[in-house]
Amino acid sequence: MIVLKTERELDLMRAAGAIASVVLNDVGAFIRPGVTTKAVDEFAASRIRHYGATSAFLGYRKYPCNICISVNDEVVHGVAGPRRIQFGDIISLDVGVRYQGYIGDTAKTVAVGGCGLLAQKLIDVTTQALYEGISRALAGNRVVDISRAVQGYVEANGFSVVREFVGHGVGRTVHEDPQVPNFVEPGKNSAKLKPGMTIAIEPMVNAGSPVVKVLSDKWTVVTQDGLPSAHMEHTVLITESEPEILTCPENLPSSLRAR
Ligand code: MF3
Ligand code: CO
Ligand code: CO
Repeated sequence: MIVLKTERELDLMRAAGAIASVVLNDVGAFIRPGVTTKAVDEFAASRIRHYGATSAFLGYRKYPCNICISVNDEVVHGVAGPRRIQFGDIISLDVGVRYQGYIGDTAKTVAVGGCGLLAQKLIDVTTQALYEGISRALAGNRVVDISRAVQGYVEANGFSVVREFVGHGVGRTVHEDPQVPNFVEPGKNSAKLKPGMTIAIEPMVNAGSPVVKVLSDKWTVVTQDGLPSAHMEHTVLITESEPEILTCPENLPSSLRAR
């Protein structure tokens, strides 16, 4: 069932989205060589708390961390631990927060210091793929129009999209209907986009093959070929006109700005 949000709910979604966005930026700025992923997760927890929110991921299906931190060939759902971040790594950070009952969900991949040309192209293509998808998030289009735009852009640039994990509706819970795949499944029909729908669009893009596997920790998803992967995500509102990105810093409630 797809939930359309009321104006009151959208104001809370804007606040939650802004907090997620600001926390993601804070965490990105904290990342440096030598820091453990555990320390990054603890820093994220303190920033989430600072803005009066809670992690939407901690405890979700028993997920053990505050945010997802996925390094190099890790695709999504990386689990923080003693691993030290190194110069040249690419780090996918995924932040989900709950604020006054509503969720903001946003992710980005950052390069530590400088990364190689392949990794930089991967980040650039994944970023643009996200915006290609967002540009199709229009009332009257279908979810598949987003999927097609993301997949087309990624594959035209020689990379591949992950099939096992998909974008999704967002609201009072992290994952609501509809699913928002980053690929087209021929013959499958997809929901029509309507004003008031809030969805997370989140291309997961592999430099090599799209095949992934889950590590023995039951969470960390890695590429099977060991090549790097990148992830970019925004929570987006379908409107009567242009899509509105909810996970942006501009909507941070004024009461939280002075902090
Ligand atoms: N970040 C994922 C998403 O964007 C959800 C993570 S679920 C968790 O949909 F349990 F791993 F945190
Ligand atoms: Co996310
Ligand atoms: Co998501």
